[in-house]
Amino acid sequence: MSNPVRSVAVILAAGKGTRMKSARPKVMHEVCERPMVQWAVDAAFGAECTDVLVVIGHGGDLVEQSLGERGDLRLRTTWQHEQRGTGHAAQVAMLAVPADVDEVVLYYGDCPLLRAEDVRAVRDARSGHAMAMAVCELADPRGYGRVLRGADGRVTRVCEQKDLVSPQEHSVREVNPGVYAFDAAFLRNALGGLQPDNAQGEYYLTDLVQAAARAGDPCLTVEVPSDHTDGINDRAQLAVAEARMNACIVHNLRLAGVTVHEGARVGAHVVVEEDAVIESGVVLRGKTHVGRGALIDVGSVLTDAVVRAGAKVGPFAHLRPGADIGEQAHVGNFVEVKKTVLGARSKANHLAYLGDGIIGDDVNVGAGVIFCNYDGFNKQITTIHDGAFVGSDSQIVAPVTIGKGAYVGTGTTVTRDVPAGALALGRAKQENKEGYADKLRARMRATKLAMKGTS
Ligand code: UD1
Ligand code: CA
Repeated sequence: MSNPVRSVAVILAAGKGTRMKSARPKVMHEVCERPMVQWAVDAAFGAECTDVLVVIGHGGDLVEQSLGERGDLRLRTTWQHEQRGTGHAAQVAMLAVPADVDEVVLYYGDCPLLRAEDVRAVRDARSGHAMAMAVCELADPRGYGRVLRGADGRVTRVCEQKDLVSPQEHSVREVNPGVYAFDAAFLRNALGGLQPDNAQGEYYLTDLVQAAARAGDPCLTVEVPSDHTDGINDRAQLAVAEARMNACIVHNLRLAGVTVHEGARVGAHVVVEEDAVIESGVVLRGKTHVGRGALIDVGSVLTDAVVRAGAKVGPFAHLRPGADIGEQAHVGNFVEVKKTVLGARSKANHLAYLGDGIIGDDVNVGAGVIFCNYDGFNKQITTIHDGAFVGSDSQIVAPVTIGKGAYVGTGTTVTRDVPAGALALGRAKQENKEGYADKLRARMRATKLAMKGTS
């Protein structure tokens, strides 16, 4: 049996990305909550590349740290300390590519929409030849390297925008989006022959296309959709990419049986089960999980939260990390929940803060209830057992436990445990003074007049 093809993906990510106008390196800008470079790495592994090597430079420490979080030994980085062109970056990369590698797939780290199937298509197009590259037909090819072909239709070279000469060259609409597959031996050899004799004085990777033609094995091409290959250079393009990626995530959710209304934003790691409804203006972030049939109503923001089957959240609820909303439970408008488990069928329908709580089943938390969980030094836990009722505008000063079926009267400041079945009442006694309202008004009016007289 022959050995499987060992294919290494090289992702170029050393550039600064000047047009992002950012302290962060370009490839660390996020698209749907993931740095661009992470999407690029996914495409490589998805296309069955055996190893991935990312060429880093500007802000390389941050890129390295982010990639390290994957904990994947097949993924490595290599430094290009000075950016002398894409050809130079490839030369640097090859120093770190083992000798027994058969194929090198190479593309740029700023194309987050590139899919594994596109990378796979370029690999397949090479079929044992020196090299293959993706191509796109663009109505407006400005800025891209143009793919120039001979009379026989075979590719002769790629010409960079700045090196275009004739009007005919300018009119070519077939462009190089920058996704290549090389025979490793051809690549090593041809990279040695690169010269920086062009408008930018850089080592151009694209000169290898001409090298292949000269060697009698011209570069093969495969058309890929241009909306997968758009490179990101500035934040306007970043926004377009994010909108497309979000549309793709939402589309997949819809096909999986989730109703997602227009204008919802869903992160790449979010899971939503069948028959859930996600309303407009909802933002689902992090590892949020929305269960079957749950409703996330207009304007709610959920980060690393769990919402179980049939629960209702919002409108305008804020679920922070560690919020776990039980089956059929309700969290209404202007309720903030953090690190709190709310049991099945329990309700907190209006204006509340639930932080560091453990709340049982069938509990009712009234309007304006606050869990006072922080004393300026430590966070403390509030425990409320099944079937308890917490009246509106109560403050629960943690650590405290409210027993099963207990009843906390409206406006109570709970500072001590409430036993199961007990009624806790902690508000001042009301006093009514008959007929006193008019007396009070007369006195205040007189005071006001007296003030005017002196001014
Ligand atoms: C490159 C291609 C061009 C293609 C276009 C597609 C070359 C010479 N040209 O042009 O044909 O149409 O991409 O977007 O390759 N990088 C490094 N080290 C370097 C230089 C660049 O890592 O020394 C990285 C950058 O971070 C970037 C990528 O390579 O992610 C592309 O470099 P860039 O200078 O933007 O190439 P283009 O001029 O866009
Ligand atoms: Ca570019």
